[in-house]
Amino acid sequence: MAVTTSTGGIHEGLAGRTAIVTGAAGGIGSAISAALTRGGVHVVGLDADPRVDEVMTSLGCSAVCGDLTDAAVGQAAIDLAITRTGRLDVVVNAAGIQKRTDAVDISDEDFHRLFEVNVSSAFRLIRQATKCLIETKGSIVNIASLSADRAVPGIVPYGATKSALTQLGKGLAAELGRYGIRVNTVAPGYIETPMTADVLGEEEFRTAKLNRIPLQRFADGDDVADVVTFLVSDAARYVTGVVLPVDGGYSIT
Ligand SMILES: NC(=O)c1ccc[n+]([C@@H]2O[C@H](COP(=O)([O-])OP(=O)(O)OC[C@H]3O[C@@H](n4cnc5c(N)ncnc54)[C@H](O)[C@@H]3O)[C@@H](O)[C@H]2O)c1
Repeated sequence: MAVTTSTGGIHEGLAGRTAIVTGAAGGIGSAISAALTRGGVHVVGLDADPRVDEVMTSLGCSAVCGDLTDAAVGQAAIDLAITRTGRLDVVVNAAGIQKRTDAVDISDEDFHRLFEVNVSSAFRLIRQATKCLIETKGSIVNIASLSADRAVPGIVPYGATKSALTQLGKGLAAELGRYGIRVNTVAPGYIETPMTADVLGEEEFRTAKLNRIPLQRFADGDDVADVVTFLVSDAARYVTGVVLPVDGGYSIT
């Protein structure tokens, strides 16, 4: 893929920086990796899916394939960023899993796995990266969800993980601000990715949701990626601790 870089607008100050993006083989994470690359960022993409190698190679960037619940995998991404570029400026936690079931039917194992991937692993990666981010006055974006503060039958434990991630983001923004580190949260609505392929494949569900989205369309990964790029750029240099919905207006209806 030919990559052209730009330096102004949502790419302000990004050229020459280094980012770790988790979930980089997924719909949103791969779009974020591509958007940051267009701003001149070297991205270390991390994912459990081996396709992450292909995605990152096409962007001229680096990949780590592994399960984030293993602390060594997150550390490997940080080490690779430092070895390749000598710095780490940005961490984007986009890896995530969803379990669609009535809450009363979820197994202990699935419940714990949701929290382990969506909350504990994201938080651990931030802790592991903080020393490097202090040096660069870096920036963190966590991808939560609109379901963090809504009651959504069928994904109740998932929503609880996203509430926890959102609250961690606010608290970390308060604690890390003194180092010049900004921490923001993006709350996507319905984005067409492998995660939502099943529900958005159901005509009745699609129509019901579209009727509630003021912009009358679902999003793609790029719609989220541009907002993440803005948040980690210098254009958002005085923005920290926010939760920014990217939902076509769904949350106001
Ligand atoms: N698609 C949506 O509508 C939507 C809405 C709100 C929030 N989100 C959130 O956005 C993020 C990205 O979702 P997506 O839609 O791109 O889904 P996706 O399934 O396309 O991508 C998620 C990626 O995370 C990776 N991953 C999962 N567990 C991992 C682990 N333990 N270690 C390493 N990698 C792991 C997967 O392999 C996958 O590539 C998720 O956190 C999701 O909860 C998505």
